[in-house]
Amino acid sequence: MRVLVTGGLGFIGSHLVRRLLAEPDLEVVNLDALTYAGNLANLADCASDAHYRWERVSVADRAAVRTVFARYQPFDAVMHLAAESHVDRSIQSGLPFVETNVMGTAVLLEAAREYRAGRFVQVSTDEVYGSLGSSGRFSESSPLNPNSPYSASKAGGDLLALAAYRTYGQDVVVTRCSNNYGPYQFPEKLIPLWVTNGMEDKPWPLYGDGAQVRDWIHVADHVEGLWRVLQHGRSGEIYNLGARNERSNREVAATLLAMMGLLPSTLVPVADRPGHDRRYAIDPSKAESELGWRPQHNWEPALAETVAWYRTHEEWWRAIKSGAYREYYREQYRTLATVRAEPQENP
Ligand code: NAD
Ligand code: TYD
Repeated sequence: MRVLVTGGLGFIGSHLVRRLLAEPDLEVVNLDALTYAGNLANLADCASDAHYRWERVSVADRAAVRTVFARYQPFDAVMHLAAESHVDRSIQSGLPFVETNVMGTAVLLEAAREYRAGRFVQVSTDEVYGSLGSSGRFSESSPLNPNSPYSASKAGGDLLALAAYRTYGQDVVVTRCSNNYGPYQFPEKLIPLWVTNGMEDKPWPLYGDGAQVRDWIHVADHVEGLWRVLQHGRSGEIYNLGARNERSNREVAATLLAMMGLLPSTLVPVADRPGHDRRYAIDPSKAESELGWRPQHNWEPALAETVAWYRTHEEWWRAIKSGAYREYYREQYRTLATVRAEPQENP
């Protein structure tokens, strides 16, 4: 079996590539442009695997994508993860998000059709459903109501994928997962940002009142869900993936502060994110009943293992937290500016 994975040098993509390569007789071609979020170190252990290839190509580059399909055809499956993925960056500018998440998805769908690839898995997010009040959970039939340029661009990609199923009968399945945590997550996202700031004696920025709720899942459980969807999902369907693990940002902070032996004063309230979604919660019962899939990781032990991973992989995150990363944060705190105290030196 030959699978085209896009975004395999990112956080979730690198876990997926490693999971796929554990299957016998499975070859992976990883199409990844190596943006700021991609990292060759994430797949250093696979680089010399004879079943693995990397092509440095943007999903939005139609000619280059077609060349990859022509070179490696036939693909038995396409698993599309490449994306601009950070909400705060999308607030700074939405244009790269439209280019990669909308245009890139359209280009990839078209190439997959032209070269008669097998199943196309569009890897998406619960954020396309928008924000919940204090009750209820997102089901696959919840209306799309995205609030950030990031989630709007992901919703655009999802709609193109579902339209390809309806218009052309293309074998498409869409997954929508909740917030992931685990090793190799880029330290602009909440958990790796706080954990690595904690190791650098830097403050933890808390947006707004910190009562926003996210539904956390370990990345390995997400990736296992994607593998099941590829094998057993029904064409044209959407599958929500989540671990029934809702936590407010203040709860996440309290748990991590205790795990890391840090003082509550580490947490520093800053101005809220514009358009900040209040609560996400996934109803994963369709994936559980149809795919026999169940998350295997429990929150506190898996979070403790994640903290331990960042402790033993300082070289990995310290190499990232320099250069362009610092420029991003200068801009970020200009955008969030000033209603409340800003962390003085983050990062
Ligand atoms: P990430 O930002 O860590 O990695 C993105 C990868 O895509 C990087 O390797 C980057 O180089 C690559 N990429 C970006 N633009 C590209 C382009 N134009 N062409 C080719 N490659 C490009 O992202 P992630 O957190 O691993 O997320 C992967 C996917 O999963 C995304 O589609 C995201 O929307 C989805 N998702 C993420 C989460 C989460 O909590 N992180 C939750 C649900 C769904
Ligand atoms: P994030 O990891 O950016 O994921 P998403 O916005 O896609 O859910 O943020 C998770 C939550 O943490 C979200 O409510 C925003 C909040 N947050 C902070 O309070 N401080 C931070 O420094 C960051 C990055 C996020």
